[in-house]
Amino acid sequence: MTFDPGQNELIVGTVCVCLQEAEWHCDEFTKGACFSRGKSEEECQNYIRVLLVNGNRLFTCGTNAFTPICTNRTLTNLTEIHDQISGMARCPYNPLHNSTALITSSGELYAATAMDFSGRDPAIYRSLGGLPPLRTAQYNSKWLNEPNFVSSYDIANFTYFFFRENAVEHDCGRTVFSRVGRVCKNDIGGRFLLEDTWTTFMKARLNCSRPGEIPFNYNELQGTFYLPELELLYGIFTTNVNSIAASAVCAFNLSAISHSFNGPFKYQENSRSAWLPYPNPNPDFQCGTIDSGTYVNLTERNLQDAQKFLLMHEVVQPVVPVPYFMEDNVRFSHVAVDVVQGKDTLFHIIYLATDYGTIRKVLSPLNQSTGSCLLEEIELFPPRKRQVIRSLLILHSRSELYVGVRDQVIKIPLKRCSYHKSREACVGARDPYCGWDMLLKKCTTLEESVRMSQWEQSISKCPVRNVTVDGGFGHWSSWSMCSHSDGGGSAGS
Ligand SMILES: *[C@@H]1O[C@H](CO)[C@@H](O)[C@H](O)[C@H]1NC(C)=O
Ligand SMILES: *[C@@H]1O[C@H](CO)[C@@H](O)[C@H](O)[C@H]1NC(C)=O
Ligand SMILES: *[C@@H]1O[C@H](CO)[C@@H](O)[C@H](O)[C@H]1NC(C)=O
Ligand SMILES: *[C@@H]1O[C@H](CO)[C@@H](O)[C@H](O)[C@H]1NC(C)=O
Ligand SMILES: *[C@@H]1O[C@H](CO)[C@@H](O)[C@H](O)[C@H]1NC(C)=O
Ligand SMILES: *[C@@H]1O[C@H](CO)[C@@H](O)[C@H](O)[C@H]1NC(C)=O
Ligand SMILES: *[C@@H]1O[C@H](CO)[C@@H](O)[C@H](O)[C@H]1NC(C)=O
Repeated sequence: MTFDPGQNELIVGTVCVCLQEAEWHCDEFTKGACFSRGKSEEECQNYIRVLLVNGNRLFTCGTNAFTPICTNRTLTNLTEIHDQISGMARCPYNPLHNSTALITSSGELYAATAMDFSGRDPAIYRSLGGLPPLRTAQYNSKWLNEPNFVSSYDIANFTYFFFRENAVEHDCGRTVFSRVGRVCKNDIGGRFLLEDTWTTFMKARLNCSRPGEIPFNYNELQGTFYLPELELLYGIFTTNVNSIAASAVCAFNLSAISHSFNGPFKYQENSRSAWLPYPNPNPDFQCGTIDSGTYVNLTERNLQDAQKFLLMHEVVQPVVPVPYFMEDNVRFSHVAVDVVQGKDTLFHIIYLATDYGTIRKVLSPLNQSTGSCLLEEIELFPPRKRQVIRSLLILHSRSELYVGVRDQVIKIPLKRCSYHKSREACVGARDPYCGWDMLLKKCTTLEESVRMSQWEQSISKCPVRNVTVDGGFGHWSSWSMCSHSDGGGSAGS
């Protein structure tokens, strides 16, 4: 899902029918070729995996029966297609593969995805725009090792990628680690060495663990949410699917990430030697260029170094050593964060999608010494009709949360103060969005209050009981995405 602020329109990629109803099927020939390669009817559809608003265009890619393609469409008329290009290295072939993509203001597309039919060739790839196409080195596990890409962000001079992958540096058994990787946006690749390849790619491990004599590691990043004004990244991490289910939320600041990238590398001389720290030859590295005489300018990094040093030695630590939120027996799949002005201060509210189809609403710790609070569990469906959450989108400007499931999109208003009928219930909910207006004698948002001094809010501790808004699932607006759907939910406008 993505949002077009210009038209105030939610854009949903589905295998069924989109909101503006631009149908985009694969042709019979492509489908036939897909079947002949042993794929099923379900796999041989067009799954939309890239949906990026770019000025007055919508850039979108679909798996197209294992023959990915991308189109550039008019935002106001999605049936109007301007260009159709190959989706290879921009979109996965297999709808189950995890990928991420972004377009910069200068028009370059950065995609992190598997590049081939079998999914064995993962890459971070730049194309389109005015700069030369570049990728990570092919079939080189020191660059990327069976990664699952999670998210990407365009921040200052760099493009950042968040993912999890098999840890090359971990030599006792197969372990997955979470990573942040980055490249300079002005990288133009090497000459003779690293041709058509990044010369600025580096990656570091992200640590999200429960401290203790033997720390308990939440190794597998599942989702992120970035707050650009605070340069703060929220990440949700889980244990491996083969071990007991547990999840945690950790927050990382950009300065901790930069700190790791400016520090020593982790380097392995040959495949039998140990991984050792190696001083960073370029600790004040900037994305500058140097004049290399007869050749065009290169990015300011020695090419031998760029080939050798990819992994940082120092692990990126979260803002505080204890995760912001932890829970056993559940796997969080998506996260969104809202920054809310309360009576006395700003609060961060974390929305977490659970693997059984509910949304946890959690108040982020107020300071280093307090913990987080579970404020509410938002029920989307009646108990036996729960569905897997596929996407989560927050619209700060409208204070709305959109939840995508198999065949519908559900809208949840974030400010629901009128549900609390008494002063006790209102203040007791410890919900930063709400307070008791002593003049109006009702539970209101800060904007609705008559006078701030007459608006009571008290968020020093967690609520006594979690308030689950009674029968919430009956109240949400929802849109059905598939005409043949029998899914319930009240019709939205
Ligand atoms: C949208 O684009 C299609 C294809 O170019 C065109 O046939 C149709 O008339 C356009 N619709 C509007 C409302 O402009
Ligand atoms: C999509 O359209 C925009 C605006 O016209 C253009 O700048 C861009 O190059 C197009 N992208 C592709 C892939 O054709
Ligand atoms: C993609 O990520 C999801 C969620 O973590 C996971 O269940 C799935 O196995 C991943 N896909 C592949 C092909 O690894
Ligand atoms: C971006 O890189 C340039 C050098 O190429 C540097 O002068 C500038 O400070 C960098 N910007 C940021 C925000 O780091
Ligand atoms: C190379 O960089 C130097 C110094 O930044 C600059 O003066 C020169 O114009 C650049 N040359 C090219 C070919 O971009
Ligand atoms: C950023 O996070 C680190 C821990 O990784 C912490 O030491 C530092 O104080 C944080 N900086 C800010 C500005 O919050
Ligand atoms: C990760 O964080 C935990 C808890 O703060 C800490 O005990 C552990 O040493 C850290 N691990 C690494 C590899 O930095």
